[in-house]
Amino acid sequence: MIRTMRRRIAILTGGGDCPGLNAVIRAATKAGVHLGYDVIGIKRGFEGLASPFQAIELNIENTANILDQGGTILGSTNKGRFSAKVGVNEARAVPQELMDDVRKNVEDNQLDGVICIGGDGSLSIALQMHQMGVPVVGVPKTIDNDIAATAFTFGFDSAVACAANALDRLHTTAASHERVMVLEVMGRHTGWIAVHAGLAGGGDVILIPEIPWEIENVCEKITQRKAMGRPFTLIVVAEGAQLPDGGQMTLAPVSEHQQIRLGGIGQWVADQIQERLNTETRCVVLGHLQRGGAPTYFDRCLSTQFGAHAVRLIEEGRFGEMVCFEPPNISSVPIAQAVQRLSTVDPSSSIIQAARALNISFGDTPHFQNPFPNSQVQAATRVEKFNRS
Ligand code: F6P
Repeated sequence: MIRTMRRRIAILTGGGDCPGLNAVIRAATKAGVHLGYDVIGIKRGFEGLASPFQAIELNIENTANILDQGGTILGSTNKGRFSAKVGVNEARAVPQELMDDVRKNVEDNQLDGVICIGGDGSLSIALQMHQMGVPVVGVPKTIDNDIAATAFTFGFDSAVACAANALDRLHTTAASHERVMVLEVMGRHTGWIAVHAGLAGGGDVILIPEIPWEIENVCEKITQRKAMGRPFTLIVVAEGAQLPDGGQMTLAPVSEHQQIRLGGIGQWVADQIQERLNTETRCVVLGHLQRGGAPTYFDRCLSTQFGAHAVRLIEEGRFGEMVCFEPPNISSVPIAQAVQRLSTVDPSSSIIQAARALNISFGDTPHFQNPFPNSQVQAATRVEKFNRS
């Protein structure tokens, strides 16, 4: 095949969708075109890179007006034939013949760089492609915000806005009817959405996978609020929050290539409260509403920077790297490093301390406790105890 002189890059979106994908596609296309690349978009995630190769031309015209559009104009597939994971207790490779097929298509279509936009699963596939010599760069995407190498993934802020808005709405109806409202939000391994939405939306109890909790403490909090003249309570629970036996609530049986579907913990919490306190309790599962719709302005700005800097990585020949947000700048890290561990909420972090200072319960203690380790009050109490002993 005769090599054309024009350089060519491809963009693909892998795994579950999230707000901001189209903003990345638009930014990478615009930056690519301005830097002299031909740009194509791979359809249906990694599936489109395998045979039959499925791609469309991307240009300034057909990426106009998608900055604020949810979803992905390229489509995506979650798991299926392309299911991989490295690090974080899993080592699963995409079958070799599928990867060989992908490499051949990349060569035949004269791609100088492939921008893979995805979460830790898709980035693991991208890493395997890189290890086979495919010129890949990564862009971190997930509403869950659980990729450790970046301060924030795009999509997270939009999901938090959706969940906080739901809490605002639940607040008024909870107060009117003196009810307990339980909001189940996404977050497979982490409680980032629950914590940020809980703070932004005035939650009273936040239950997350990172902090073991007990239903008795949740009930105690509701009782205390009632005693203080607050006859309603807002509870936010992450879908991945663990049950007392350490297990997670799951929805449907899993097939070999599908991830376990989480869900049901919100209803479980609501049922327990209703039964134990005989107080009217309702559960709302926000589900995929968090993944749809327009990205927030923060996400549009972050996605746009990620898209432009993904093209920079290709320009600089930094294959196997992923763009990341190191406030205030966009930087990059090896994808291999990015998929090694998940970002989880640190129970001693300042955001958890702030929440505890507001008497928000994480279900781990029955009563308020001073969260600030260097607090003068605590120091004084310690001295007093010492003097008494
Ligand atoms: O990983 C992001 C996420 O939104 C999780 O929080 C959730 O468990 C999962 O996707 C659901 O994905 P799907 O329904 O597309 O399989």
